[in-house]
Amino acid sequence: SRSLNLAVIPGDGIGQEVVAEGLKVLSAVLPQDVKLETEEFDFGARRYHATGETLTDADLDALKAHDAILLGAIGDPSVPSGILERGFLLKLRFAFDHHVNLRPSKLLPGVATPLAGQPEIDFVVVREGTEGPYTGNGGTIRKGTEHEVATEVSVNTAYGVERVVRDAFARAQARPRKKLALIHKNNVLTFAGHLWTNVFNKVAEEYPEVTTEYMHVDAATIYLVTQPERFDVIVTDNLFGDIITDLAAAVSGGIGVAASGNINPSGEFPSMFEPVHGSAPDIAGQGKADPTATVLSVALLLRHLGYEAEAARIEDAVSADLGERGDKPARSTSEIGDALAVRVAG
Ligand code: IPM
Ligand code: MN
Repeated sequence: SRSLNLAVIPGDGIGQEVVAEGLKVLSAVLPQDVKLETEEFDFGARRYHATGETLTDADLDALKAHDAILLGAIGDPSVPSGILERGFLLKLRFAFDHHVNLRPSKLLPGVATPLAGQPEIDFVVVREGTEGPYTGNGGTIRKGTEHEVATEVSVNTAYGVERVVRDAFARAQARPRKKLALIHKNNVLTFAGHLWTNVFNKVAEEYPEVTTEYMHVDAATIYLVTQPERFDVIVTDNLFGDIITDLAAAVSGGIGVAASGNINPSGEFPSMFEPVHGSAPDIAGQGKADPTATVLSVALLLRHLGYEAEAARIEDAVSADLGERGDKPARSTSEIGDALAVRVAG
């Protein structure tokens, strides 16, 4: 019989509530012969306050033993900005070489968008996850004076760019429209921009069926709002990807439904799946959070581990649930989880 050995990190705020619903739906959708084992980890603000630790080498070893990681959200106003971001989330992405940060945007029927009409939105952003300005390569001199100089160096390696560009081409090739856009800013960031463009054009020769385009990131923010239907797969660097995926989430139903995967494609390390939203301390513990983004992240997790049919069942259940929300009264976090669990089981 098969087994799925999951590391679960509920984290802070609404992370606790949404992860519980994600696991509920996961248990309901898994075939009988798959033994689900979960180990919960207490990373986040409470652990930080109690021990001063965010993520130790021993923690990384413990996480490594699992097939995948499900994360709720990490972050609390009681922890100074940057500590958990760098000490937990980015540390984990870097340590487990999560170089493919996968963020699909699909406007599902019945879901509100601030855009005019009901545009067809169905694209996926492949955001590089281990390089760019996120590496912590920088510094400051004359700090606190009016002559302070701060640098934040963007690191782009041919190896790192090529592997994420290849991943994006393979995803584009597998989709019906077979379109791939490179988003960068190569008119100004000429060193990194030319590396990205050259690698992209070189790999494109191996994918004659994939239609490619290049777009500057500023122009892309316009098109994501005025013509989101033109996008199929997007590949971009870590920071541009961070920014445009929040915009993408805003136009395709909001962060209540935005899912993501931090993927190590080789499988050398476990991949991590998380909703794009944060810990929302203002509504934590009240059953107000929508667990849909976490449930959709569970679908990405299942697809990554080869459970394609189960992933599709979750996505269909979410579509149906969203489609029927309409004018019905708002449901609690666990009521939405219950409804989705019933749908995927039936
Ligand atoms: C995200 C977040 C993180 C990022 C932060 C919290 C470090 O905004 O997952 O998009 O910038 O990658
Ligand atoms: Mn972000």
